[in-house]
Amino acid sequence: MKIRPTKGLTFDDVLLVPKRSPISSRQDVDTSSWLTPTIKLRLPIVSANMDTVTEARMAIAMARVGGIGILHRFMPIEAQARQVEQVKRAQGFVVEHPRSISQAASIAEAKTMMKQHDVGGLVVTNGRDELVGLVTQRDILFAPDDSAPVGSVMTPPDQIISVKPDVSPAEARTLLHKHRLEKLPIIDQAGHLVGLITAQDIVKHEQHPNATKDERGRLRVGAALGVQTNDLDRAAALLAAGADLLVLDIAHGHADHCLQMIKKLRREFPKAQIVAGNVASKDGARDLAEAGADAIKVGVGPGSICTTRIVTGFGVPQLTAIMDAVEGLAEVGRRIPLIADGGIRSSGDMVKALAAGASAVMIGSLFAGCEEAPGATVIRNGQKNKIVRGMASLGAAIGRKAVAPGEDESAESQEDWDKVVPEGVEAVVPYRGNVEELIYQLVGGLRSGLSYGGATTIEQLQANAEFIEITPAGVRESYSHDVERV
Ligand code: XMP
Repeated sequence: MKIRPTKGLTFDDVLLVPKRSPISSRQDVDTSSWLTPTIKLRLPIVSANMDTVTEARMAIAMARVGGIGILHRFMPIEAQARQVEQVKRAQGFVVEHPRSISQAASIAEAKTMMKQHDVGGLVVTNGRDELVGLVTQRDILFAPDDSAPVGSVMTPPDQIISVKPDVSPAEARTLLHKHRLEKLPIIDQAGHLVGLITAQDIVKHEQHPNATKDERGRLRVGAALGVQTNDLDRAAALLAAGADLLVLDIAHGHADHCLQMIKKLRREFPKAQIVAGNVASKDGARDLAEAGADAIKVGVGPGSICTTRIVTGFGVPQLTAIMDAVEGLAEVGRRIPLIADGGIRSSGDMVKALAAGASAVMIGSLFAGCEEAPGATVIRNGQKNKIVRGMASLGAAIGRKAVAPGEDESAESQEDWDKVVPEGVEAVVPYRGNVEELIYQLVGGLRSGLSYGGATTIEQLQANAEFIEITPAGVRESYSHDVERV
């Protein structure tokens, strides 16, 4: 038995000492940060892989503002892979494998397909991948006979303007404007249709200049998995669907089965970016990194809906956990980003987590209140609220059994969030509008924080950081006091 001589600290236990600043405008700072060794975010903010926080809609919103979302794993493999595809298709300079139909198909079929895939048009192809027409909503909206073939209403090939695969975004923009077009098919030298550029996508591209995008201009997305036997199949399906990173997420990440899973993933998918967690110690962070993880997720019990510390007695106050993990990662011979997961209630907490050494923060409850979160909306005392629940809460466990009966009975799942004894709660959070509005507030605080830290980048903030421990009186002084808030 041993007891550490120093106290464990969390966000409210400290403040950052202001530093001389060369910054005159909050716009002069750079908030970008590495999430993994190959993925950079303009905003170091990640939405949590919880079933009341991140599904495709949230992931799209997060990537558009410059952060990223991690799709939760509490759904069948195919459903999670479909959500990855949904994010990857949400925008991109080129739509690869555009939805296609044959000219013999009926207008009714075209309408169903457009509705099903939420697209405004379809390419018409023959069996050899050659373009034989284009059909858009305008062509079919008021068609008198739904049973007529698509070939009777489509734009024929001689009236279609197409481009070569090496077309630049600027050239495509000019052509779309010059000919007042909505869609530009891309045809390769052999005459095969290889993609589609749409006016909509170019507009989205310009509306979201900070978006987190892959090399093909598609939004980036991460997806979570666990350590169950079928999680290697899950990883394969998620990567095939286009996931940019895998997040191996289990409650007690410093466990042999987690280390083995990292090694298996590394072996099977050598190019994949793998984040692993959660840990809360120097040894935990180092061991996961040495097993092959590209980034580490830190946090045992700091989350708003977590009761792990109360139920098990284990955990480390989050600021100390981050600092200890940073020390562990320094012992590994390569740079491993750290994601601080849980307990972020304000932009100030985020600044402290980053200053302590995190490259990004993962946020659950704050985002659960947003419009884009999948949790249900409830009205309480006349106010709009949304539901959030811990992934180890009783409600979440019951929900999972209903979705996938039998799946949770494996021995491994007992070591996972899927516990019989709940370590999380269900709760409501105030409705907070769109993610973009909340992010605006968080990023405003981060920009100001960088300026107070005399830093133009997050690395400088970390290098300059000087924390000061405060007393309960200091905490009271930090919040608004001696006034009646309106
Ligand atoms: P916040 O504070 O942002 O935290 O809501 C989100 C993080 O909390 C973790 N999480 C849990 N921890 N029991 C726990 O002990 C749970 O049921 C639970 N569900 C989520 C998770 O790391 C998440 O990102």
